[in-house]
Amino acid sequence: MMHELRQRCLQCHACPLARTRTSVVFGVGPERSDVVFVGEGPGQQEDLMGEPFVGPAGKLLDDMLSIIDLGRENSYIANIVKCRPPNNRDPLPEEQDACIGYLEEQLRILKPRIIVCLGRIAAQRLIHPEFRITREHGTWTQREGILYTAMYHPSALLRDPSKRPDTFQDLLALRAKLQSLRAGG
Ligand code: URA
Repeated sequence: MMHELRQRCLQCHACPLARTRTSVVFGVGPERSDVVFVGEGPGQQEDLMGEPFVGPAGKLLDDMLSIIDLGRENSYIANIVKCRPPNNRDPLPEEQDACIGYLEEQLRILKPRIIVCLGRIAAQRLIHPEFRITREHGTWTQREGILYTAMYHPSALLRDPSKRPDTFQDLLALRAKLQSLRAGG
């Protein structure tokens, strides 16, 4: 099922980002992942390689995951939009609208226990439209059996290291939540 969805997504021309992309960055990770991380959209390296979070922000994401004993082998990583916005600008609402159906289908297939939004764009799209990342990172919301939380985007942590202690706390809370879900079945 995921394979068919990927094939469809790779052909997508539903928005103008298709014209400037090198690759469609569909998403990566095992289908039985408990946790899905959602960023905003591919950057330059991701566009070239066809994989999410493989550039500098991705290296930091790997470090963040390893702090809580997660890795790419046991989490799924995707983005709100699958094609790179030129010059890494925020994806426009109409680009997000054109793309979000793919992510929704991915989530229906994956059925994760936890969705972690990386940054404001993903949190506003998946948690609530007024989400304030500075104020609301690390909070948890449950909807249709899935727990949602958000943390700072790794690119924001690269720009502003003073946000890292907050993210460390958010990561520990994520680990605790995962442990209690696993203990409770
Ligand atoms: N930033 C994102 O939001 N997603 C990526 O895949 C890479 C950088």
